[in-house]
Amino acid sequence: MFDGIFDIAMKYAEIEWRENQPYSPEYDDIYYSREGGRSESEYVFVNQNHLQERCKLVDQFVIAETGFGMGLNFVLTLKAWSESANKNSTLHYIGIEKHPVSPDDIFRLSELFPDLSGYFEELLLIYPLPVEGVHVRTLLGGRVYLHLQFMDVVDALKHQHFNVDAWYLDGFGPAKNSGLWSEQVFKCIAQNSKTGATLSTYTCAGAVRRGLTSAGFDVKKVKGYGRKREMIFAVAAKPCSVSSKSPWYDVQPSEIKNKTITIIGAGLAGLSVAWFFAQRGWQVTVIDRYGSVAQEASGNPAGLVLPRLSLDNKSESMFYSSAFLYAINQLDKLQSQTSEQFWFKNGVFSIDKNGKTGAVIKKYNYPESFINTVHEKDIPAYLACESRELSFYPLAGWALPEKICEAMAKACGNKLARLTAEVHDINHVDGVWQILNAQGETVMTSEVVVVANGVGVSEIDKTSYLPVSAVRGQMTAVPISETSAQLEHAVSFDAYVTPQYNGTHYVGASYSLHEKSKDLLVADQEDNLLRLEKALPGLFSHPDNLNGRVGFRAVSTDRIPIIGQIPDEPAFKSLYKDLHHGKPAEHYKSGQYLPGLYVSAAHGSRGMCSCFLSAEIIVSMVENSPTPVSKEVIDIVNPARFLIRKFKRNRYPDR
Ligand SMILES: Cc1cc2nc3c(=O)[nH]c(=O)nc-3n(C[C@H](O)[C@H](O)[C@H](O)COP(=O)(O)OP(=O)(O)OC[C@H]3O[C@@H](n4cnc5c(N)ncnc54)[C@H](O)[C@@H]3O)c2cc1C
Ligand SMILES: C[S@@+](CC[C@H](N)C(=O)[O-])C[C@H]1O[C@@H](n2cnc3c(N)ncnc32)[C@H](O)[C@@H]1O
Repeated sequence: MFDGIFDIAMKYAEIEWRENQPYSPEYDDIYYSREGGRSESEYVFVNQNHLQERCKLVDQFVIAETGFGMGLNFVLTLKAWSESANKNSTLHYIGIEKHPVSPDDIFRLSELFPDLSGYFEELLLIYPLPVEGVHVRTLLGGRVYLHLQFMDVVDALKHQHFNVDAWYLDGFGPAKNSGLWSEQVFKCIAQNSKTGATLSTYTCAGAVRRGLTSAGFDVKKVKGYGRKREMIFAVAAKPCSVSSKSPWYDVQPSEIKNKTITIIGAGLAGLSVAWFFAQRGWQVTVIDRYGSVAQEASGNPAGLVLPRLSLDNKSESMFYSSAFLYAINQLDKLQSQTSEQFWFKNGVFSIDKNGKTGAVIKKYNYPESFINTVHEKDIPAYLACESRELSFYPLAGWALPEKICEAMAKACGNKLARLTAEVHDINHVDGVWQILNAQGETVMTSEVVVVANGVGVSEIDKTSYLPVSAVRGQMTAVPISETSAQLEHAVSFDAYVTPQYNGTHYVGASYSLHEKSKDLLVADQEDNLLRLEKALPGLFSHPDNLNGRVGFRAVSTDRIPIIGQIPDEPAFKSLYKDLHHGKPAEHYKSGQYLPGLYVSAAHGSRGMCSCFLSAEIIVSMVENSPTPVSKEVIDIVNPARFLIRKFKRNRYPDR
């Protein structure tokens, strides 16, 4: 094991413990009232919102909390939910927190409440690193989705429509924490509320009452906890509409009647969608042109699970950092259900190709446990090289994609049916999609279809407009040698190499847009070895006639995955063809999307990182549950973006 990297200073909220009570020096305020903090939380939030009565009546319930803090309200809610809700219902809990509390401080709090320790343990087990963005995790066997939004409250809510049923407003006192109690925050809360949503908070400050009233809430003063005279309870009285800055990306709620779904493609993208729907009780059919899983890009023997971090595009980096942490969470879960090891999580070294890693870390404030620059003294001998910048991702690793696919298919159990067919077309007839083969025969009908067929997206009419190219990649299998055996961690450079697996290191991959050969090319083998030798001089011996594998990555023109509902291209044309005139967004109606038709494609060279979060995005769209990423991120992966760019540049159709 590589030492030195786990000795980390993470960017968590500063907390002082005063007489065993947490206190924030930054806000000069306490996290809980001194008298009966726990009972007050239960009284103000869980009881006033009538959680236990309401959760018996619904299949899905959404709670949002401004100021997640140490998660005490969340844990109390978990307890109430698990004691009252019906077994098939799902709770979505959106916890917004600008200054994440460290797991150590949460643990310390948990010790004060031994009867809640099981719930705190569940929270700590899935608690993400303090990385800005949204981190969705499941608890209580998948019945509860915690959406931790590590960002300012306004950023978390301003462009969203979460359809919240109950709000917990639990900032520090309004006089000390004005950013959490502003007019803008109240408007955001109203915009994210269902009509009839309830809201409670311990404060009864006049400014809060007035702000909520003017945002459209019916506000009442009710009896406060213990000796406190009053607190606020409010109800969202009327629907609140707000203008959208990009109406073309606003997708209408889905109206799916049956929990059955068809997915085209049995690679990482398709099977992660299948696995997530199966976990939510859906009956899933996966169609593939091969009889077994992972026969195309996902059949790559071994690859790295690493994010792609961009200095220029914040939304892209937020997508990949959330996707990376979620992939790790899901791979851990899948691995724990499978005896054969396919996920090797001991960190990845990255040789900085363009000298930008330091700037990326600084810009996004990544904690060292996410990515850190390796100090010279910690560089393993085989990586030591003058004037080389080296970074390390402690949580990353390498994995065997084919085995991941097999494990996901197995984990679907009897919820999954498999069909071998080559899909040529998909038509919408009488509210259902007919899936046709080359002979024009219907091989399947389904209300919901997800197109997840890698480079095959270009072959299906409804998705053929997507600018996806097949980029050839060739891996080289290099036998272990005496020196290469010391390689403990995977290394990423302008290619990558894994530690040995069954006596073989996997090196790859070449990257060619124009070469279409499916055979191993000698030139590519030589090129892989050359890059390997440059990165890790003298570590490997290179016998002749090496094995390898060729695959084709699906890559979009902006290199970002394509995730979400598929736009109705003719409708988009009539709605937005004059976008290049530069009229304001309010001038336009919401986008029209094909009902029940979704895509998860263009995972490029990072499919093991991006597929899981992408699948979760699609589940949230189909089930009308809160999206697991911010609106900015949803928009950058939206399949309509290519049409919109063309309309804006007056380049539709292509010219
Ligand atoms: C050489 C190489 C190295 C890579 N290294 C890494 C790495 O280190 N880390 C990483 O994260 N990613 C890596 N990738 C990328 C990763 O493998 C892909 O992003 C991922 O596998 C994409 O999964 P997918 O399900 O979208 O596509 P695929 O795995 O290609 O699956 C698509 C499926 O759809 C089926 N299909 C296609 N068209 C039709 C049709 N018309 N009808 C029926 N079925 C159809 C295919 O048979 C296939 O099974 C690498 C890729 C290559 C090629
Ligand atoms: C009283 S504590 C919350 C306690 C918490 N509800 C619990 O159950 O443990 C208030 C929290 O609001 C957070 N906060 C303050 N300003 C914020 C903002 N602008 N956006 C999001 N969170 C904020 C603080 O960091 C702090 O964790």
